Amino acid sequence: MVKEDTLDKIICGDCLEIMKTIPDGACDLIITSPPYNLKNSTGNGMKDGRGGKWKNAALVKGYQNYDDNMPHEKYVAWQRQCLEEMMRIIPNNGAIFYNHKWRVQNGLLQDRQDIVSGFPVRQIIIWRRKGGINFNSGYFLPTYEVIYMIAKPDFKLVKGANALGDVWEFTQEMNNAHPAPFPVALIDRIISSTDAKVILDPFMGSGTTAVAAIRNGRHYLGIDISQEYVDSANERIRNELLCNTPRFNFG
Ligand SMILES: C[S@@+](CC[C@H](N)C(=O)[O-])C[C@H]1O[C@@H](n2cnc3c(N)ncnc32)[C@H](O)[C@@H]1O
Repeated sequence: MVKEDTLDKIICGDCLEIMKTIPDGACDLIITSPPYNLKNSTGNGMKDGRGGKWKNAALVKGYQNYDDNMPHEKYVAWQRQCLEEMMRIIPNNGAIFYNHKWRVQNGLLQDRQDIVSGFPVRQIIIWRRKGGINFNSGYFLPTYEVIYMIAKPDFKLVKGANALGDVWEFTQEMNNAHPAPFPVALIDRIISSTDAKVILDPFMGSGTTAVAAIRNGRHYLGIDISQEYVDSANERIRNELLCNTPRFNFG
């Protein structure tokens, strides 16, 4: 169990260190989107294909306390360590919904298999986003991200959720100062498809997973390295609680 005084809180710190303090099997569900290491992509991930950079890209400066620019091998090793810790934290009927984005590096698709190989990926959900921008004439405009559903053996969806299919269309969040927020509706779909009681997001950012957990009457636990993001997520949660008093059906 997660200690009462840690439930429904966002902790500021390095998620790998903080996750080590969470007991085995303590969080039923993990939903998260790590930094994509975008600034280590070809052209810093922001190249506009005409010799310049896409100046308006939200992540052009990286995150508040993290520049998103690790050597690729180091990034893969870090993410695998994070996934190992997450696997320890979920019980035998738990799952991790791990959002990532495939990318083209030096003309070749990088499908992130190096991060997830060996983990029990049961399904890949396609999150189709609206619009997007691609000035590169070498490939079609990418319009989706993926969500790896990494599930322990006894994980089950709630009745009827399997009919939702594996291609989900949600417009990306526009109304959020964080550079890479989830749309609430996307996380709401994941949470409402499970009966998870305690949900962890180790890369909590602007607090979207917490907001969706509150709307579904579930407990959350969040971690982010940036105090600024933690503060704004807490402000967002306070506003959410003003219009939505959570009703927990469990302890
Ligand atoms: C893709 S964003 C997550 C956005 C979030 N899903 C939302 O809806 O706002 C990744 C987050 O990871 C955080 N981060 C980067 N390194 C971290 C670390 N070592 N531990 C915890 N958080 C970290 C960044 O500050 C950033 O907010």
